[in-house]
Amino acid sequence: MVARARSGKIAVCGAGSVGSTVAYAALLRGLAAEIVLYDIATGLVTAQATDLNDGAAFAPPARIVGSDDPAACADADIVVMTAGARQEPGQTRLDLAGVNADITRTVLRQVRDVAPDALYLVVTNPCDVLTAVAIEALDLPPGRVFGSGTVLDTARLKYALSQRLQVAPRSVHALVAGEHGDSEIVLWSVANVGGVPLASYAERGRSIAPGEYEEIRTAVAGTAYTVIEGKGATEYAIGLAVAEIMEAALRDEHRFLPVSVPFTGQYGISGVCLSAPCIVDRQGVHGPVELPIDETDLAGLRASAATIRSQLDALGL
Ligand code: 2OP
Repeated sequence: MVARARSGKIAVCGAGSVGSTVAYAALLRGLAAEIVLYDIATGLVTAQATDLNDGAAFAPPARIVGSDDPAACADADIVVMTAGARQEPGQTRLDLAGVNADITRTVLRQVRDVAPDALYLVVTNPCDVLTAVAIEALDLPPGRVFGSGTVLDTARLKYALSQRLQVAPRSVHALVAGEHGDSEIVLWSVANVGGVPLASYAERGRSIAPGEYEEIRTAVAGTAYTVIEGKGATEYAIGLAVAEIMEAALRDEHRFLPVSVPFTGQYGISGVCLSAPCIVDRQGVHGPVELPIDETDLAGLRASAATIRSQLDALGL
């Protein structure tokens, strides 16, 4: 049997734990013919690429390149920004805003010069603030620059609900929206399990009481802190989340995913990037789509937007 030919090029900026795990997840899923890791830390980026290439015999065919030169990202189809200072135990994502805004501008402008037609996916934290920084710095058509947003938080929510209800995470249709961070919210009013609204779901004696909603939201929003406390960084789940987003884009899937995008009046919010479901395809991102959420969810989304707005104000953006 002849292997299916792959095309496409992914460039990952930053060869730390998140960047290398994004490359690893992309490799295992056969997302592109070429995966470039770019980082100014020459020794690190070379080692990560060598380690990935050493596994080539066990993965779908792909050329893996590690480079300290942004020119290696030339003509990429999608550029993933993971470079930046990372969250230390006790820090919030927003504590990283100033230093990572400068890194984001510098790195992405260099890469845009060699990959002007790429989609740009911002993962570095604080994700929503840096998505706004990247949009402003890159000056590309709408929809071409977006953030990973609450795709990961949504996966954490699906896992949490699946454990409580003893159903597969893929049968849980529920979304985290707003900030990728402490003020994120769950869109409880449109959550369902296998088509049954969550509020009325009760199968095999398992259901979620309204009184448990906030406890679940807090646990989902706090997962990253627990992981960082225990192992210094989150990596596997964000790597898989980014691979999922890249797959939707590169394979032109038109998938609904809660990525971070600029709001222009949707839900009564504007002038700030945050997550709500969008349609992701080869052109980039379309949305946010306005879901028929209730007043409580709407108030939560607006409060989360206000939190991000205050961070942008602090950075003078
Ligand atoms: C995460 O949520 C820290 O943003 C990173 O895993």
